[in-house]
This record gives sequence, C-alpha cells and structure tokens, in this order.
Amino acid sequence: MRAVREMTSGSPTGAASTLDVAALRRDFPILQTTVHGKPLVYLDNAATSQKPQAVLDTLSRYYAETNANVHRGLYQLSEASTRAYAEARLRVKNFIHARLKCEIIFTRGTTEGINLVAQTYGRQHVKAGDEILITHMEHHSNIVPWQVLCEEKGARLRVVPVTDAGELDLEAFQRMLSDRTRLAAVTYVSNALGTVNPVKELVAMAHARGVPVLVDGAQAVPHLAIDVLDLGCDFFVFSGHKMFGPTGIGVLYGRAELLEEMPPYQTGGDMILSVRFDKTIFNSLPHKFEAGTPDIAGAIGLGAAIDYLNHVGLDRIASHEAELLRYGTELLHSIDGVRILGNAAHKASVLSFVMDAAHPHDIGQMLDSEGIAIRAGHHCAQPLMERFDVPATARASLAFYNTREELDALGKALERVHEVFG
Ligand code: ALA
Repeated sequence: MRAVREMTSGSPTGAASTLDVAALRRDFPILQTTVHGKPLVYLDNAATSQKPQAVLDTLSRYYAETNANVHRGLYQLSEASTRAYAEARLRVKNFIHARLKCEIIFTRGTTEGINLVAQTYGRQHVKAGDEILITHMEHHSNIVPWQVLCEEKGARLRVVPVTDAGELDLEAFQRMLSDRTRLAAVTYVSNALGTVNPVKELVAMAHARGVPVLVDGAQAVPHLAIDVLDLGCDFFVFSGHKMFGPTGIGVLYGRAELLEEMPPYQTGGDMILSVRFDKTIFNSLPHKFEAGTPDIAGAIGLGAAIDYLNHVGLDRIASHEAELLRYGTELLHSIDGVRILGNAAHKASVLSFVMDAAHPHDIGQMLDSEGIAIRAGHHCAQPLMERFDVPATARASLAFYNTREELDALGKALERVHEVFG
C-alpha cells in the first residue's frame, strides 16, 4: 500500500505524507466492518465522518463515570462534569485559535450556529432595503436562514456567482459589497465541489467596506488548520460530526464584542443570572447563548476528537489528502463518460461527478452493492446543482483514513457502471 508510510512522531511541518494510514484505520471500528459481504469503503465523509475509538471511549466513560448536570450541583460528580465541559471549550478555543474561551458557544451544529447569528445579530442589524451577501456555492444551511431573515425584514439576499471551474468570482464579490450590505456569509470549503475559498482575502475585502463576515467552516475543519484570528472573521461555525466527533454538537465562534451586544437566541435555564417575574437578567458569555442542559457528553466527545486530530496532525492530513485527491482525480478522468464538477485550483478532497450513462442514484446503488458508500443527490446545495445544470451528482468525499486502494475499488466499480449502463 503506497500511501502507508511510517508515522513520524509529530513533525511540526509535516512536509511529507507520512501518515501510517493502516494503523490509523485500526482506530476506527466501523472501518473494519463489511457491507454486503465486502469490506466497507467509506467515501461519504463530507456528509459525516467516522469516529475513532478514543472518541467512543470518551463518550462511554463520561456516561459511566462522570455523568451529572453542569453548573448546578455542589457535589463532586457535578463539579467533575462541569470541569470536563469547560475543558472541552478550552480545547475548541485552542483548536481554532480564538482569543477568549467565552467566544466559543456550543450549538447542535453548523445549522444551529448560522440560525443563531441570523436570528440575533441579523434581526438586530438588518432593516428593509439592506442586503446580505452569500455565494452560489453555499449549502442550504447557509442560504435559508438568510433568506428567511431577508423576507422578514424586507431585505435583499444577494448571491455571488461561481465560475465554470467552481471558483468564487472574487471581482463580483468585491463589486457586490455595498453600503447596504449588513453581513457576508461564505463557506470556507464547498461541500458539493470541494472548492477552498480564499476566506482571508474575502474577509479583508468585506471589512474594507465595514461588512462583518460569517464563515461556514463545516467542511474545512476536518481538512485544514483553522486560525480565526488570522482569517479575521467575525463568526465561524462548524459541526463536531464532520471532524470525527459526535453528532448533535457544534460550535459558533463569535468575536466577543459582537456576541456581547447580541440578544439571546433561546431563553431558559443556565442562560440567566437571575429571574424575577418582572425582570430576568441574562448570564454572561458564553452561557447567554446556551439555554438549558447542554450536550455535555457531545462537547467532551468533541474535545476528544480535537485531541485525536491534533495527534494525527492537520499538516499531515492535508498532505495525504492532497495526494489522494490528485490520484482520485486522475482515476476519474481515465474512466469513459465521467465528468468531474468542481475543478478549482485549490480544492479539498471532494470528487463530485456525473456519468453520461447513469443517474447518480444508480451509481450510488451499484457502488453500495460493492460495499462503497458515496453520496448521490443534490448535497443540500440545489442552487449550485442548477448552476451546473445537473439535478444531482455522485460525490466521493475523502478523509485521512482513505487509501489509494479504496479509490481503485471506486474506479473499478465505476468501470462496471459504465459497462452496465453505457
Ligand atoms: N452538507 C452535508 C453534505 O454535504 C450534509 O453531505
């Protein structure tokens, strides 16, 4: 297996692809399983990633040994649970290089983070005639919350076009920023095309016009090292389950100055300092945005996923995935009737494609019979599908635990699809 080489003990630069993929794969119980009697080839990582044993153990250990509600009890278990929850927040802060722990708000995921900003910051700042700027490559979670806000306020949703290669039209982005723009919301990495947007540049352009920027980092966090201070963004959202952590937990990062001024999203327990029938005083950050019992185990599990990612090394992940992407792209180009959508110069490891002969759903079903899991559909990005004039695509999205051999299995299965349907 060519991709498997010796794992160095934490080279800071990680210049070479030095992942011991075979060893890392053993950390993921599900990757040892079979589907239809064939070894599972899991290529749907943009939808959700698999979980290493370290995350599974952390979840089960939490429930077996530490489970108690946070911020409430004066007994040992509750204090231990509260401490572990606070440590998870610290891990997230360090992972994305935020300035302050209180800038990390735990959410259910990316979708909730974007809705939170739309319903608080958005409702506070957007008026009739104002504009929100998004891009044509957003997935529904970064479209619909802004659309609903614009409808409510009589504001206008403006959409920056995407080129045929699947890159953002940067000149159009610049041009479409106006005195009426109240917020720009852009994805870091496109889930359907793999395009990596020049987010730092976009933030600089927006800030030059006084426009704050929300970055949807859902597809970026499993692949790229994140530094929110370096990016300069005002909000950054992501989900735990796409970065080898549990489902149901996610993060909203916001600059403290903005979060302080925003009204609460949901109200109830934990987000208050005091409640009287005539007046409630809200809690300080981050608790103001975390009403009710949080997903304590999820946050702690996310902390374990961060530890795991740090142990593997995002630099080595990036270099291994770049190699896989190059190999997979050549492989797909070599198969008759396959057309790749999304040919940006800077791409994450997403291979979205269509075949002349077969509908993506037929491709997905045939691949499934070979134990290969891909996503076939509109990828929650219907406007982008329309832009490329296709109803759907087949999408193989890769993680660091994928191998050339798995891509070879994909290639062979697609040859078979071509034979059967072509
Ligand atoms: N947005 C997720 C995906 O791309 C669900 O599959």
